Amino acid sequence: MRAPAILFLLCSGLGAAAVDSCVTCHAALEEGGKGPATLIKGDVHTAHGLSCADCHGGDRTTDDPDASMNRAKGFLGKPARTAIPKFCARCHSSPDIMRQYAPRERVDQFELYQTSVHGKRLAAGDPNVATCIDCHSVHDIRPVKDSMSPVHPLHVPETCSRCHSDKQKMAPYGIPTNQFEEYRTSVHWEALAKRSDLSAPSCASCHGNHGAKPPEVESVSAVCGSCHVLFAQLYERSVHKAVFSAVGGGGGCIVCHSNHGIHQPSTAMLAGPKAVCAGCHDAGTDPAKTAVQMAGWLDGLDAALKRSETRLARAEEYGMEVSEAQVRLIDGREDLVKARLAMHSMVSGEMRQPVDAGMAVAAETLKAGDAALREKDVRRWGLAVSVILIAIAILAIRGLIRRIETNGGPTPLTASGEKTS
Ligand code: HEC
Ligand code: HEC
Ligand code: HEC
Ligand code: HEC
Ligand code: HEC
Ligand code: HEC
Ligand code: HEC
Ligand code: HEC
Ligand code: HEC
Repeated sequence: MRAPAILFLLCSGLGAAAVDSCVTCHAALEEGGKGPATLIKGDVHTAHGLSCADCHGGDRTTDDPDASMNRAKGFLGKPARTAIPKFCARCHSSPDIMRQYAPRERVDQFELYQTSVHGKRLAAGDPNVATCIDCHSVHDIRPVKDSMSPVHPLHVPETCSRCHSDKQKMAPYGIPTNQFEEYRTSVHWEALAKRSDLSAPSCASCHGNHGAKPPEVESVSAVCGSCHVLFAQLYERSVHKAVFSAVGGGGGCIVCHSNHGIHQPSTAMLAGPKAVCAGCHDAGTDPAKTAVQMAGWLDGLDAALKRSETRLARAEEYGMEVSEAQVRLIDGREDLVKARLAMHSMVSGEMRQPVDAGMAVAAETLKAGDAALREKDVRRWGLAVSVILIAIAILAIRGLIRRIETNGGPTPLTASGEKTS
């Protein structure tokens, strides 16, 4: 593999030709043949000094099309669809070639691809699956970190859904075609697309990019757990871990959360008409009672914290100093998060500690809010009393002045007789 690959690059005149007859002639062609020569200007391979002949073979130093595109001399032409991965792998699986350009670049894409559902089906002769160019495009291949690349996290869902949302194309396989539709309603898409949070998963984060296959039943919680580490740890030791594997349909976290349309969780998942638990635990059974109890604790803590929050906000509106209690309330919110996490052990006792701690914070901060409001009232009364006292004082002074005016004021001029009219 190694020697021929290098030989191939040398034969194709890599880096030597200042004149590139392939580009020159193809750029002058009508519509069809012109495309690649126009597109290739923005291609990552062009940026690294590679050109048509490095992929397609042929002799770029001659203007004679018969000599230039001579199959006997190594011209490969347009690769068959099923041959494309190998076509790209000639370089991308060769550490010797890739090292010259990008020493740290991975060289396992083809190897992984062969383990994917795409790769296996292609090897079996099915041309409908994704090959390298369906995900990366061709003749305008961009660096994967480029925000315009079709494999940039923000574009991956569209790239995959070109096939996976196409009912006709997927019909022979009998698998759902709603992944993108569902995914677009999810908390993950919301985080990725609306808040530009690139740590949220796109399709390839859960399925792999080259080794794309659906996570196995056993590995679903591992896939989610690669990001939600603590949730996965609790789930792993929960009673459900063993039983959900037997349920089928993916198992793991997705039994309760689904896989593509993961929505904002709430206690409605635990209790009420939409509870996921009710699907397996009939009302009145122990687990169903546990679920209701868990929901009650979470709702209770949430409500208590909200009550404190409004109380403190009101005190703040009146200009009272409550910042310390407001900071303390953050601890309570964290306890609620911890309680939601602990719930994943499915042992209600494990929720007690954070719930109790959170309730204590709620009580303490509510007290602080009440105290601030009482102090506000005291100050108001104080203010009212002082206003009244001041008013009384003003009235008293006014009365005094009037009395001085009528009793000991200056004598009118007419009384002196100096002026007559
Ligand atoms: C003097 C003009 C000329 C030169 C030089 C030339 N080509 Fe072509 N090439 C053509 C024409 C014309 C076609 C046929 C166009 C078509 O079928 O749409 C073609 C077809 C192709 C095809 C498609 C072949 C297939 O299998 O369907 C590839 C790939 C290609 N050229 C690559 C190259 C490469 C690489 C070089 C340089 C080593 C090169 N060409 C040099 C004119 C040229
Ligand atoms: C990174 C490798 C790569 C480079 C560089 C490259 N091509 Fe291609 N080219 C391909 C692949 C892969 C296909 C097959 C596309 C398909 O099956 O749709 C292809 C297809 C073609 C075709 C067939 C018609 C078509 O558009 O499908 C022509 C013509 C062609 N290339 C010409 C060129 C020319 C001219 C250049 C240089 C300007 C070039 N290619 C550079 C990989 C490359
Ligand atoms: C199902 C879609 C898909 C297929 C098929 C695919 N890729 Fe990728 N490729 C991706 C995604 C997604 C990335 C990662 C982008 C990122 O890191 O953000 C990627 C990354 C890469 C990278 C950058 C280095 C790396 O490994 O992360 C190279 C090089 C690459 N692919 C080449 C190939 C080659 C060669 C083939 C064919 C053997 C191929 N790809 C097939 C989707 C695909
Ligand atoms: C002649 C050798 C060669 C061939 C053939 C080749 N590539 Fe590349 N490719 C490179 C080199 C060199 C780079 C630039 C170094 C890098 O960034 O990985 C590159 C870069 C890439 C990148 C960007 C990787 C990144 O890290 O951003 C992708 C994607 C890619 N190639 C896909 C393909 C696909 C798809 C094919 C087949 C159609 C192909 N390549 C064929 C040599 C080749
Ligand atoms: C060119 C079309 C095409 C593109 C693009 C494509 N796929 Fe596929 N994919 C297929 C076909 C066809 C199958 C075979 C379906 C089967 O065997 O059930 C498949 C199978 C799969 C499977 C296995 C499904 C199963 O349960 O059998 C997964 C997972 C998958 N693709 C994920 C992806 C992801 C993720 C992307 C994007 C990064 C992607 N695909 C891009 C066509 C495509
Ligand atoms: C949060 C992780 C995650 C994300 C993001 C994700 N998937 Fe999945 N996907 C899964 C899991 C888990 C399964 C179910 C595996 C099982 O049933 O064994 C699955 C199943 C599939 C299947 C098999 C058929 C089916 O629907 O059951 C396909 C195809 C697929 N996903 C494609 C996609 C595509 C396309 C995207 C992006 C639009 C995507 N997935 C995003 C986790 C994810
Ligand atoms: C690549 C990392 C990653 C993977 C894999 C992943 N997630 Fe997420 N998840 C996130 C990020 C980031 C958020 C957004 C957190 C936020 O809202 O701040 C999130 C949000 C969530 C939420 C909403 C949490 C909240 O507080 O709003 C749930 C539920 C969730 N993910 C479940 C899952 C499940 C189930 C899986 C597996 C099928 C999974 N996640 C796979 C990163 C990931
Ligand atoms: C038995 C059902 C069930 C399983 C299995 C399950 N969860 Fe949950 N999960 C829930 C319920 C119910 C909530 C909602 C709690 C609430 O907000 O009241 C939740 C909430 C969450 C949240 C949001 C926490 C927050 O602070 O808002 C995340 C993230 C999460 N789960 C991830 C996971 C991951 C990852 C797995 C697998 C390792 C998993 N869950 C398995 C039922 C489940
Ligand atoms: C897919 C079916 C399924 C779903 C959904 C489900 N469970 Fe279970 N759960 C089981 C099975 C099966 C067992 C083990 C047998 C048993 O004890 O009933 C179990 C056991 C339990 C136990 C332990 C009972 C004990 O006596 O040790 C608790 C607690 C529990 N589940 C709570 C929940 C809660 C809360 C939810 C919703 C968030 C839920 N389950 C959702 C199937 C499910």
